Amino acid sequence: MPRPNRVVIARLLLPAGRDLLDERFEVTEGGLGSSREEVLALVSGADAIVTDPAVPVDDELLDAAGPQLKVVANFAVGFDNIDLEACREREVTVTNTPDALTNATAELAVALTMAAARNTSEAERSMRRGEWTGWDPAAYLGIELSGATIGVVGMGRIGRRYAELMQGFGGEILYTSRSVKEEAEVKLGARKVELDRLLAEADVISLHLPGTPENRHLIDADALAAMKETAILVNTGRGVLVDSDALAEALETGSIWAAGLDVYEGEPDVPERLLKAPRTALLPHIGSATTKSRDEMARLVAANVAAVLDDEPPLTPVDLG
Ligand code: DGY
Repeated sequence: MPRPNRVVIARLLLPAGRDLLDERFEVTEGGLGSSREEVLALVSGADAIVTDPAVPVDDELLDAAGPQLKVVANFAVGFDNIDLEACREREVTVTNTPDALTNATAELAVALTMAAARNTSEAERSMRRGEWTGWDPAAYLGIELSGATIGVVGMGRIGRRYAELMQGFGGEILYTSRSVKEEAEVKLGARKVELDRLLAEADVISLHLPGTPENRHLIDADALAAMKETAILVNTGRGVLVDSDALAEALETGSIWAAGLDVYEGEPDVPERLLKAPRTALLPHIGSATTKSRDEMARLVAANVAAVLDDEPPLTPVDLG
């Protein structure tokens, strides 16, 4: 009898996907608290590994798994945690979960945009501290989004959906992208511009790019200085896109108005300076955290694992070049 395929979930896969794997494979799960050493030990002999943004997939992990490893299925659309070159060298397939989280993440970006514009995080914290003494005509004055120019940096699936949702505010939509997005131009009236123009003209700048080395600190001190004093920066992409020290400085000095962040460089650590920065809405990487989205992601992870172990093409492979 051939041995059953062994699937290792490095941390956690929701039941919507886990149950599908359990029906067919021998499945082991590390749990959210598993240390790097525990994960390395666990993956030994795995045919498939389920990873997520908190699991670096590198030479060390792939070697620990062994040459029988066929697939790394990432429980996320972003795959900056995975060394693609190392996977290609070993002929390990990599998959991710596009589409499943488009709405959830775009909706959270809208929520952060509105929270930052109206400084709702600070207002709520102050009220919870018992500081509210009654209606105050001068307290917590924010910025209205109606008619605001929306700048979408990266017009992929999530950026496109964010632009569509923000269209309701009635302002112009600018975007950056490697290619012209004709459908967005026709349907949303979106206009492709260079990044420096977008930074200078947009009232809201929302980041929807992957966390590649080339994109690291795309929003640095110079980029922040190019923005309007009333600008709102939103990041639901990856933390590395923003130089957080420069952002904290811009918020402290008022060189931009506000920020709404869901992702951070070096998660789960959040720079102290950002935690204290004014007019800042901060969330702990919950862009895709709706039951619908996470269940769909989990099912897609399981379907990708099953396809590869059945020698079928995976549903959503990552291009290894
Ligand atoms: C992703 O899928 O890349 C998200 O950041 C995870 O929530």
